[in-house]
Amino acid sequence: MLFDVFTLFPDVFEPYLQASIVQRARQNGLIEVRLHNIRDWAADKHRTTDDTPYAGGGGMVMKPDPIFAAVESALGMATGDSAPCPVILLTPQGRVFTQRIAAELAEHPRLALLCGRYEGVDERVRQHLVTDEISIGDYVLSGGELPALVLIDALTRLIPGALGDPDGAADDSHASGLLEYPHYTRPPDFRGWQVPEILLSGDHAKIARWRREQSLLRTRLRRPDLLTAAPLTEADRKFLANLEANDPLKVEG
Ligand code: ADE
Repeated sequence: MLFDVFTLFPDVFEPYLQASIVQRARQNGLIEVRLHNIRDWAADKHRTTDDTPYAGGGGMVMKPDPIFAAVESALGMATGDSAPCPVILLTPQGRVFTQRIAAELAEHPRLALLCGRYEGVDERVRQHLVTDEISIGDYVLSGGELPALVLIDALTRLIPGALGDPDGAADDSHASGLLEYPHYTRPPDFRGWQVPEILLSGDHAKIARWRREQSLLRTRLRRPDLLTAAPLTEADRKFLANLEANDPLKVEG
């Protein structure tokens, strides 16, 4: 999967892209990240990429010309062509990023990610270049760089072979529509806090059921909104109905 990232701050990407799972995915050729500095396409001698807003209002607005030039050049578009892949603007005004959107975007072999800064980008960029707008949550960051990294990371995890464990992504919180069950590792007794005995039992069917129930409990307690959309089995529904009857909020251990 190829990511073309358009930013005024390409340097902030490298440290994250050089670590852990994303780095390994790059080394294995599963993803490629091309960083494009929008400033390189500014035409004037000061390499200006922003300007004051028409009609006032404070703050600065990213100029359309360097952004169009950068994206059209990197994606090989002639002027006025539509882009050969989604062009995603990272903005707090976009649709809020979820695991479902990650899965949807992971279907594309190539994505262009446009990182806004300052008050935002000239509206003509949204209207005539951008094909999708994504927010990573209802809060405002200083720019789209961290959101672009969030997106790259979440999509990389979905590429077969990117995680050491082939089932890793399937078990992640949100992948199944539920929050993930709790994890434990050695030692079995840490400061008197025990690992649940069932995890040491070797009974795989029982462990699978326990984990599923922990997922349901956790989701019900922390994110009950997710339960309405999650695909639940008959056994899940029975478990939840039983909880309903027995004061659920006291159940989680
Ligand atoms: N740019 C600034 N804040 C953002 C957010 N929450 N999501 C995506 N892009 C942003």
